[in-house]
Amino acid sequence: MSRKSIKNVLVLLIVSLLPFCIFANGSKEAAAPAATVKTTVLQVAFNQSETHPQYKALMEFSDSLFKATDGRYKLDIKPNALLGDQQSTIEMVQDGAVDMSVISNSLMENFNKDFAVLGLPYVYNSVAHQKAVFTSGILDSLFATTKANGFQVVAAFTAGARSIYTDKPIKVPADLAGYKIRVMQSDTMVKTLDAMGAVGTPMGQGEVYTAIQQGVIEGGENNEITYADLKHYEVAPYYSYTRHLMVPDLVIIGNTVFKSMSATDQATFLSLCKQMTDREFVLWNDTIEVAKQQAIAGGAHFSNVDIAPFQNNCLPLIKSLVTSDTAKALYNSITSLGK
Ligand code: GCU
Repeated sequence: MSRKSIKNVLVLLIVSLLPFCIFANGSKEAAAPAATVKTTVLQVAFNQSETHPQYKALMEFSDSLFKATDGRYKLDIKPNALLGDQQSTIEMVQDGAVDMSVISNSLMENFNKDFAVLGLPYVYNSVAHQKAVFTSGILDSLFATTKANGFQVVAAFTAGARSIYTDKPIKVPADLAGYKIRVMQSDTMVKTLDAMGAVGTPMGQGEVYTAIQQGVIEGGENNEITYADLKHYEVAPYYSYTRHLMVPDLVIIGNTVFKSMSATDQATFLSLCKQMTDREFVLWNDTIEVAKQQAIAGGAHFSNVDIAPFQNNCLPLIKSLVTSDTAKALYNSITSLGK
């Protein structure tokens, strides 16, 4: 065969094989997996550390959400107040700069006064009572009211019981005379500490350590986990079990991002939120003793307190705050679950 005829045969061969090549390529595409799922990552502002039980509950929620939505949603939790203190992250959620945040109930009463009922002094008699309230569904309508403010509450977390810590053990209300005790930026909390005999002094969580160190305030009040996590025992080593407040923490999500989910994904999200509440109570109980031991190793002294005089001092405050029909109904529903 001449060189020319070899060339012609080769050209013929290539041309005749071309359709098979195209077909083969097409078949390959047809066998490829369906279009890759786009994962929407929801950014969550969180003001505690990665070892906090609420962080762990949120991580587990993220895994379950990812699986249940076939990879369409997961969370990216920003701990240690990286995105700002709770007060400023509410505003970020409202304008869509952040998708979700964990906010103390105390800050919610600035949107709807009825939230104050959930954070009244001595309203829950135990963690079990609080769990019964959070999982009963009686709070759902209250939680939906903030939709008018650009976000909704999708889950409630326990944050244990708050007790006072300062430079001496506190036994009776008179021990707190003239003592400025830091509280969250909430009217109810200021009034509660005032009723207990102290001077309730509002400020963000991140400022407390330095404020005590510099003598701007004499102490704070919080659960054992935050007390240990933020090493407040270094500046206020006497933790007295007044257990005056069991303020819930609330998980919020912005309206815009929630509405962007399909109805099915919204339902999945909300049902997983209910499971997350249950799970957080377990994680909380598992962490309490560890936190306490960590604080003791760092020099903290824990002491028990007869709570009756503190409780009695708070009764007029409770009466003055539970006045509207909604607040009364809510108060009765909460307390009846504790009987
Ligand atoms: C608790 C609570 C937080 C809150 C903090 C505070 O740790 O879980 O939500 O921010 O107290 O006292 O500010």
